[in-house]
Amino acid sequence: MKIRNWLGLSLLLLLTPLSKAKLFNPNALGGWAISKELFMYIYNTVEHGKNILELGSGSATQELAQYFTMYSIEHNKIWLDKYETTYIFAPIKNYGSYRWFNTVFLNKLPKDYDLILIDGPPGPIGRYGFYHHLNLFNTNVTMIFDDVQRGAELRLLKDVARKLKKPYKIHYCKDGKRFGVINAISKDKKIAALLLS
Ligand SMILES: C[S@@+](CC[C@H](N)C(=O)[O-])C[C@H]1O[C@@H](n2cnc3c(N)ncnc32)[C@H](O)[C@@H]1O
Repeated sequence: MKIRNWLGLSLLLLLTPLSKAKLFNPNALGGWAISKELFMYIYNTVEHGKNILELGSGSATQELAQYFTMYSIEHNKIWLDKYETTYIFAPIKNYGSYRWFNTVFLNKLPKDYDLILIDGPPGPIGRYGFYHHLNLFNTNVTMIFDDVQRGAELRLLKDVARKLKKPYKIHYCKDGKRFGVINAISKDKKIAALLLS
């Protein structure tokens, strides 16, 4: 079922079996977490059951975990072991011109994933290390950069797109947040996935 708006998401909740509906918490979206629009984008474009690699975990991790297998790189011990995800703990390291996850701790990233959600570390630490350590990731999968309404995150999106020689698209959310996408799943691929499912 494709959901297009908040009404659609509410309908989905009504139609979800009680066992799952009990777990779904729409208040987990927005604020520090990804917006409803971004949740719906992922729900609609990534095949359910696939793996998502997330940088920065929070309340939306649990909502995504109902449809996807989650892996979360997390620097803050306070945010570990809260949700249904495989945590990859990586404290922040000072690299001189930027701070980011200590890559020594990123040697056990999953091999297989269909989406990277770049939503951490938090803005004050910065996310630009993702650009410097792109080689750690499979950059052929869809990459979503949350919070590109902020200058630093927008620069990261643009610089990664330029480095990979790929276009990007920015999506606007009602709450004022924006997210950018590189390697968006094309309409053709979505139709093929539907036909094969
Ligand atoms: C933007 S949050 C990541 C949110 C997550 N991807 C989600 O959508 O729920 C970035 C970092 O902030 C911290 N964090 C998560 N939820 C938080 C909250 N409610 N309040 C303060 N910090 C939070 C965690 O250390 C996380 O790695």
